[in-house]
Amino acid sequence: MTEIGVELIDRTAAAARLPEFADLLALALTAQTRARAPYSNFHVGAAVLGGSGAVYPGCNVESASYGATICAERSAIVGAVAAGETVIRACVVVTPTAVPSSPCGICRQLLREFGTDLLVLAASSATDAVYVARLADLLPVSFGPGNLTAVSSGADRP
Ligand code: THU
Repeated sequence: MTEIGVELIDRTAAAARLPEFADLLALALTAQTRARAPYSNFHVGAAVLGGSGAVYPGCNVESASYGATICAERSAIVGAVAAGETVIRACVVVTPTAVPSSPCGICRQLLREFGTDLLVLAASSATDAVYVARLADLLPVSFGPGNLTAVSSGADRP
């Protein structure tokens, strides 16, 4: 990630940006050890911070029917929503690459559902490196709930 608005920092600086970072990182690192990734061998953990202040883990779960695989970030979102959260404030994702891997496009889009100001922190489980960005920086000019509202209120017809 080298886009404007995306910064490469370390874990200490990440904790200064987000007080809940240490808790989220610990949860994501544990979830990473539980990832089911027999096909890619790429183990990913995630954790999201709900509006209530509670944190929820997720991990990637791969399928022999590859397209049925779910990423760690979306798995964490599903857990948070199932627990009753309607707001997600931040997402931490942990990948084994020395330079943290950034969330995939599908995960960015599902995170977008919870706003463009949401904080995304991509950490490495092998190094101290952390990328930090707002969702708006990872998915600029995004499609979101507001686009559908514009149509259902009768604004436009094709
Ligand atoms: N993966 C995630 O869990 N999150 C991402 O943002 C990118 C990719 C998983 C999906 C798959 O199980 C493995 O990493 C390799 O793509």
